[in-house]
Amino acid sequence: MSDPNKEFDGIKQGENPLPVWWKWVFLGSVVFGILYPIYFHGFSDWGTSEYYSAQVKEYTEQFPNKNISIQSEDGSNPLRNNPSAITTGQTTFQTYCVACHGPTGEGLVGPNLMDKEWLHGNTDQQLYENVMIGIPFERTKLGRGPMPSHEMSLGSEKVYQVLAWLASKNPEIKASK
Ligand code: HEC
Repeated sequence: MSDPNKEFDGIKQGENPLPVWWKWVFLGSVVFGILYPIYFHGFSDWGTSEYYSAQVKEYTEQFPNKNISIQSEDGSNPLRNNPSAITTGQTTFQTYCVACHGPTGEGLVGPNLMDKEWLHGNTDQQLYENVMIGIPFERTKLGRGPMPSHEMSLGSEKVYQVLAWLASKNPEIKASK
């Protein structure tokens, strides 16, 4: 009886040598597999952090951060008294804030923004933070729900426009401390 390892179901093991080209490709892969990591980690200046910063750069060029394009030193609203900002700000307010603060800012679920009472401060800086970051439930004073963050939905320019409109209507909003 023939060796079952050499023949099975009529299929014979030929024991032919592997083709020369195949052996070279195999040997080449082994050599490459050893040399490439040594080159990559030891000698090349290309790595994950470089790759990451290149991607971040590409992303920020494609989607510029609206929040750093505009800022003032002392926290006062750089768009205060700017007529076109006030007009745009009113439209934005009537889209994003109207549901909670009413069409003229007189208050609904959210407090009246046209009176003299301020629960969370009345400087440009404080208003900016309250609108950008929002007021989480733990810090609310009315207990009627939190004030949502508008950092992502509006960004600083639009928030400053809204605050310019509010300041044009309510003289109680102070530019600085
Ligand atoms: C989902 C409802 C909601 C929306 C939308 C909303 N707010 Fe508010 N806002 C609130 C509530 C509720 C409070 C009060 C939180 C508390 O109880 O202290 C508040 C508080 C504020 C305050 C602080 C008032 C104070 O007396 O100190 C400002 C300023 C303000 N909102 C501005 C805005 C602006 C501007 C927008 C639109 C960009 C906006 N809010 C959108 C619900 C909302």
